[in-house]
Amino acid sequence: MSLPPGPSSPSPFQLMQWIGCPTDYLHTTAARYGDPFTMRVGVFPPLVMFSDPRAIQQLFTAEAGTFDAGASNVALRPTLGANSLLLLDGERHQQQRRLLTPPFHGERMRAYGELIRQVTEEVIVRWQPGKPFLVRNAMQRISLAVILQAVFGLHDGTRLVRLRQALGSMLDAMSSPLSMAMLLMLPEDFGPWSPRARLQAHLGAIDELLYAEIRERREHFDAGAGDILGLLLAARDEAGAAMGDAELRDELMTLLVAGHETTATAMAWALYWIHYLPQVRERLLAELDSLGSDPDPEAIARLPYLGAVCSETLRIYPVALIASPRVARHTVRILERDYEAGTRLAAGIYLAHHRPETYPEPERFRPERFLERTFSPYEFVPFGGGSRRCIGMAFALYEMKLVIATVLLERDLRLVQPRLLRPVRRGVTLAPPEGLYLVPTGERSASRLLSRTSTAGQ
Ligand code: HEM
Repeated sequence: MSLPPGPSSPSPFQLMQWIGCPTDYLHTTAARYGDPFTMRVGVFPPLVMFSDPRAIQQLFTAEAGTFDAGASNVALRPTLGANSLLLLDGERHQQQRRLLTPPFHGERMRAYGELIRQVTEEVIVRWQPGKPFLVRNAMQRISLAVILQAVFGLHDGTRLVRLRQALGSMLDAMSSPLSMAMLLMLPEDFGPWSPRARLQAHLGAIDELLYAEIRERREHFDAGAGDILGLLLAARDEAGAAMGDAELRDELMTLLVAGHETTATAMAWALYWIHYLPQVRERLLAELDSLGSDPDPEAIARLPYLGAVCSETLRIYPVALIASPRVARHTVRILERDYEAGTRLAAGIYLAHHRPETYPEPERFRPERFLERTFSPYEFVPFGGGSRRCIGMAFALYEMKLVIATVLLERDLRLVQPRLLRPVRRGVTLAPPEGLYLVPTGERSASRLLSRTSTAGQ
């Protein structure tokens, strides 16, 4: 069976484009070959890319057993481990999802509201008037502290500080386009200075910390600990067996990696757009101010325009360019074509979000479009869909809204260089380019921090 058309350029060349300038590669390939098209990157088998919502619906709603997805994430195995939710398929995948989904939803998630605000305020108090700060670093500090707390239930402690540093260094080491290309193309034993050897060194340090934490928590098991590690330690499968250390390590690593850089990137983009477009900031501030001086996290999370700003942020430059590729387990028909077993098929998140039929003027940041109409779960897909949809979706949106609201309510900020930014790849995410700085111009009169400091001084 033939695949849809696509570029005939050599696969290492397509890999360089996919890594170095992914959005240009997607736009030019889609313009030339239409939808769907087939891309061939690096050593990987061909990937068929879809952006039509009808095709995405078929990918996301296919019967269980139609596709595997874990198998296509094999490039993540050296970092996340073979037991990671992102790499599992079939019943084991479903079982782990049932375990990991509840802590990121409902009451359990809302319990983190105050923590998110507190962590954000701890970062904000360091910002000094007139001193620019790097937006991504600030947002990463917040999202890492939040996910570490959710996963381990700990806020301080030397091990967590070391874990924070080691994770940050690992993600930095993996994220440049050159490191990514080398990691994907070079053999494992390329030498001590290769990106793979450096990655291994970071992983070694992180594993040591994770295994030490697992050991300690097993020895002093607390059935009442509300965090995710406690939940995983208590879990038993159908045969009554507990998770082994390697399984625990892989799931913890997955949550730490999947849950922090993604959210940090989304929040950095949101702050960029809000400060790049004064009318967006004004409307948002008017909405936030309508809640009074010390708004409740739940009220913030329900604000319609804030929700629209978060959605538009995730639409225009979705953090993930594509959902995990689905691998057909048997011949499947998507729209008018059959795909044989083994074919890799991807929901193209970025391209789906840039279809002018769905989103008129797709290159324009316009949150109002989310107030004017509702988009289907196959048109607006920043968190993927179906049985693989991001388990952190509700949590990430909640965190984004609370952090943005807290920042806006506390500080007046402006962009150091107010210009239109183009996204760049950072690891597997689509991020703002390096050097995105905001500068505080003053405190807001509605500041909670200000009112607390002045009350403390009385
Ligand atoms: C703005 C932030 C985030 C974005 C844009 C995002 C996006 C995504 C996407 C596109 C997928 C693939 C879905 C698919 O293949 O259909 C995914 C999967 C996943 N995400 Fe997220 N994510 C975010 C935050 C989080 C957070 C906070 C966590 C953890 C707490 C998390 C954990 C996961 C996990 C474990 C998976 C694998 C699910 C599976 O394969 O069954 N993500 N995410």
